Amino acid sequence: MPSLIPYEIINYLENNLTQGSVSCVTGAGISAESGIPTFRGKGGLWEKYDPETYAYPQGLLNLLRKRPDKLANFIIDFYSMLQEAKPNPAHIALAHLEKKGILDATITQNIDNLHKLAGSNNVIELHGNAFRIICPGCGNKIMFSKERINEFVSLLKDKHGSRIGITKILSRFFPRCNCSLRYRVDIVLFGEMLPENELSLAYKALKKCKILLVIGSSLAVYPASMLPLFAKENGARVIEINSQMNDFSQNCDHRIIGSASKILTEIVSLIR
Ligand code: OAD
Repeated sequence: MPSLIPYEIINYLENNLTQGSVSCVTGAGISAESGIPTFRGKGGLWEKYDPETYAYPQGLLNLLRKRPDKLANFIIDFYSMLQEAKPNPAHIALAHLEKKGILDATITQNIDNLHKLAGSNNVIELHGNAFRIICPGCGNKIMFSKERINEFVSLLKDKHGSRIGITKILSRFFPRCNCSLRYRVDIVLFGEMLPENELSLAYKALKKCKILLVIGSSLAVYPASMLPLFAKENGARVIEINSQMNDFSQNCDHRIIGSASKILTEIVSLIR
């Protein structure tokens, strides 16, 4: 099978995939082959759900008040999709590169938990994790098991017409913390700040990497969009892996066009 990676990049990687030399920034495209739609473009999540309503805290609160059925449908759709998804060869290749000591950090905008399920340990979740709840007061976090999400989704399916029913389910799954505030899902919505600790870990990793792989992201969203530029300013070579060129591509040193799982599997085969 012909290589998806241009010869000069193969040559460069063969000589530079050394201990701790690589970090990566991943986006929705890496999980597309696990069956999770990306956000932008044809068939993207924002085509089906208007982000003005579904990605802003106020939009979601308005929905709960006025159209709880629509909110319930969105939650059911969203979690059913995440529940079924399994890590694909791209997630597995990154976990392998980490185990070999070559990949230092996986900085992800994804909330699907697939990097951790694939076995990566140093995962920096810039936009949170859909399987976790957080107390907005004291910052305490709790992971949800698969069974708990299943229960959440199936109860919502039973009650999805009734505002009182949905509110009761939400109160049960997002209880009050000891500090008295109510837990919420640990996802960064539009207009919200990124978690400070994660962002600072990301900058630390970007400062020391020699190669930054930007995988399956349009990098259309700030501040994640600034991270590769920061790595570049600090001496890293930025290599984009994407199924197509996008606005960000011109900022990269190299581009490898194609499926993330095929390209990353090929990169793993280059390790000496
Ligand atoms: P996007 O939907 O903006 O971009 C996905 C990218 O993945 C596109 O550039 C596709 O070309 C590429 N792609 C699709 N399938 C691929 C494949 N099999 N292999 C390689 N590349 C592939 O998703 P993100 O860049 O992740 O934020 O979006 C960034 C943020 O915008 C998200 O985290 C989310 C969203 O609004 C929040 O919700 C805060």
